[in-house]
Amino acid sequence: MDISRLRVDGKRLRSSLEKMTEIGATPGGGVQRLALSDQDKQARDLFVQWLEEINLEWSTDEMGNIFGRRRGKKDDLPPVMSGSHIDSQPRGGRFDGILGVMGALEVLRTIHDRGVETERPIVIVDWTNEEGSRFAPAMVGSGVWAGKLERNWVYGRTDIQGKRFGEELARMGYQGELPARRWPVHAYYEYHIEQGPILEREGKTIGAPKGIVCLHWYDVYLEGTANQVGPTPMEGRNDALCAAAEMILKVNALPAKMGGHMVATVGEIQNEPNSRNIIPDRVHFTVDIRSWDDDLALRAWEDVRRDFESIARSRGCPIRIEETWRVEHASFDERLVKQVLNVAQMLGYSSHSMVSGAGHDASYMSQVAPTAMIFVPSIGGRSHVEVENTRWEDCEAGTNVLLHCILQSALEE
Ligand code: GLV
Ligand code: MN
Ligand code: MN
Repeated sequence: MDISRLRVDGKRLRSSLEKMTEIGATPGGGVQRLALSDQDKQARDLFVQWLEEINLEWSTDEMGNIFGRRRGKKDDLPPVMSGSHIDSQPRGGRFDGILGVMGALEVLRTIHDRGVETERPIVIVDWTNEEGSRFAPAMVGSGVWAGKLERNWVYGRTDIQGKRFGEELARMGYQGELPARRWPVHAYYEYHIEQGPILEREGKTIGAPKGIVCLHWYDVYLEGTANQVGPTPMEGRNDALCAAAEMILKVNALPAKMGGHMVATVGEIQNEPNSRNIIPDRVHFTVDIRSWDDDLALRAWEDVRRDFESIARSRGCPIRIEETWRVEHASFDERLVKQVLNVAQMLGYSSHSMVSGAGHDASYMSQVAPTAMIFVPSIGGRSHVEVENTRWEDCEAGTNVLLHCILQSALEE
């Protein structure tokens, strides 16, 4: 068989993605499969059923990461690995994460159907809690597996209702006995939608990121003095929500102030008691700062942190800050990135070199194994929203690139 002529089945890929979309489908056309929720479990059950159908040995580790393994001729050699995540944002899109898992599954199905034998084993992976929207931080499955995050710290993280990660993982039934500890990996490929506007703007089908920006997450807690809004004069109030409002605008102004390529966002806020006629006395909000330049992101934080402290003082609202999570920027393996571009060219797809502004498990993976990603265009550059969309032809094209990247690496001795 001429391996270079092998192609995935685009219809089967679409059908798998559509079945996954049914799990946690939202009225607006997106999905909600928060990490460790019943929907996450249901999607995992279907995923492992599909792994069994192509005779993959699967296992789950103490972080709930799921691995499906296909034997190689030289089965002791470090495997080629590929996958992404099944969890989603609240009211998120149908492609983020799951495309990379269903894409890798389609690759394995294609190889299985044709009886292709590879030198190296191939491992498909679903990493637990990539999104970090229910339990912060993000990418914890790959982070613990790569030895960059502490398992017990992650187990102790809580969601907005106070539920603990460790208990929710056990409840879901996917907490395995295997230690979440890295093993040697020959090459890791993660296939994903771009989640931004560049490929569409450039009119290109395949994106080959050279790496991922740094991600720095902070949690800010403010205390005010609650009181009846009518009789309480404006002077002398300690309004925690007003303090937060001033701080949020400082975060929004940071990238312009610091220069360089940086984005800074407050995306989540809780206000208590959240009544129109009580002065707010407890506010929590998050800060997300990203840049290719890790030092710039750190300096930006030091700058805005000083602003936060002075606003807190002038509004009489004590502040507590948690420096929750930092992942340095990731530089992918140059040889593998070039391979993605070469494979795209071999298959006749246009391609583009870029940087990923979104976080991915590939970030932690790149710290422990040669890593590259394959992107396909997001329509209108929209992602983490229900209207997130990618053309089916592009989904198929990206999966063909993944197929040949995996095959080339898995045929290496
Ligand atoms: C992950 O989805 C991120 O970029 O926040
Ligand atoms: Mn993702
Ligand atoms: Mn995401």
